[in-house]
Amino acid sequence: MHAFCGLDFGTSNSTIGVGRENGGSLLVPLEGDKPAMRSAIFCDTEQKEWVFGQKGIDGYLEGAPGRLMMALKSVLGSPLMEDKTYIFNEYISYSDVLSYFMRHVKMKAEKFADMELTHVVLGRPVHFDDNDLTNDNHAQNTLEKIARDLGFKEVSFQYEPIAAAMTYEMSVKAEQLALIIDMGGGTSDFTIIRLRPNMKTADRSDDVLANCGIHIAGTDFDQRLSLKTVMPLLGMGSLMKGSSSDIEVPSMFYHDLTTWHTLHNLYGVNTMTNVRSIHAMAYEKQLISRLIDILKNRAGHHILDAVETTKQRLSDAAEILLDLDFIENDLSVLVQRELFNHVIEDQLQNILKTVNETVALAGVKHADINAIFYTGGSTRIPAIREKINAMFPQATVVQGDAFGSVGLGLTIDAQRKYGSSI
Ligand SMILES: Nc1ncnc2c1ncn2[C@@H]1O[C@H](COP(=O)(O)OP(=O)(O)OP(=O)(O)O)[C@@H](O)[C@H]1O
Ligand SMILES: [Mg+2]
Repeated sequence: MHAFCGLDFGTSNSTIGVGRENGGSLLVPLEGDKPAMRSAIFCDTEQKEWVFGQKGIDGYLEGAPGRLMMALKSVLGSPLMEDKTYIFNEYISYSDVLSYFMRHVKMKAEKFADMELTHVVLGRPVHFDDNDLTNDNHAQNTLEKIARDLGFKEVSFQYEPIAAAMTYEMSVKAEQLALIIDMGGGTSDFTIIRLRPNMKTADRSDDVLANCGIHIAGTDFDQRLSLKTVMPLLGMGSLMKGSSSDIEVPSMFYHDLTTWHTLHNLYGVNTMTNVRSIHAMAYEKQLISRLIDILKNRAGHHILDAVETTKQRLSDAAEILLDLDFIENDLSVLVQRELFNHVIEDQLQNILKTVNETVALAGVKHADINAIFYTGGSTRIPAIREKINAMFPQATVVQGDAFGSVGLGLTIDAQRKYGSSI
């Protein structure tokens, strides 16, 4: 083993890879024998411990008291990252929480490699923030500082789709122009790159023709699906008495209830007081009562989890029964894949627009692309692949490992950058 690693901190899943003695790279098993672990941190206030990954999610969903934090990558770069929360008798920020998570991953990898890891290539999306370069730089600087504080002496970054390209390149038999598509939980990223067999060089700037990214991916699809299917059952869109005429129940509660990092704020006393007064003015009181129960039982994460699972299962089935028994006995909603496709249609169009922008930026024609390489969990959605494939009818379609290609590529990159010096 070597002292370098590649770390893919994802919105939904994370991986870390290390170098082999023979020059190859491999991903470290982080969750059982699986290399991808959920990017989740549960602060168990009863046991007074931090629990990471799927175990943390399960603990929380099974009712252990505490706070579950997910999709922290979406907060990177925003001022929210430094907001302090009172946990275990001290004030800590999301940056601190992220640092605990990365320390956990680093320690697992060091145990696996049986040595201290001192050099790291960290993955990053093409844009952490689509619109603000300051936030974007801030996000990368925050990650770098955390990595250095954890003891990494050398820290560098690689775009996630370029890392995925390096993994794919290991298997190419002839030179080709490839479009790399990495769609995860938080971002959709695209690279057009010239790939060659037996490539060993670290600097690929001449081969990379274009990188583009957009902040629309899996968690946004989940939110849309929830707002359309579950939130109306909790009163969204229903009417209440206003001061002069009937008005719709305020929608902000439902938006917060479908967003990972705003969800927790709903469990405060103020929200409950507001929702109770809405209940008093509402025409469909039984719906608002469900919302009150959700807030009382802190069951928002259950909804997020159930909706995400439904979305995933819709990739293999035409319809799925979304079971909401945990809200009320026998409550469920039948969700059709067609409906899912419909609710994400405008988001999908924005993603396709970004693919076209990538082609334009590269200065090539669609017909010049020889291969499309897919990675990231959201590329499992059939409508997405169908629409992208149709834009490049002549290209060979390659389905990469959805959850491992980026982490492995970052490790290959680390090998090239640091392998000869340590
Ligand atoms: N079968 C599936 N169908 C549709 N979506 C899926 C499927 N499997 C996983 N996903 C979604 O893929 C996303 C996670 O993918 P991935 O692990 O590649 O993201 P990530 O690397 O953590 O995020 P990012 O790279 O954006 O930071 C989640 O939104 C998840 O719900
Ligand atoms: Mg990813």
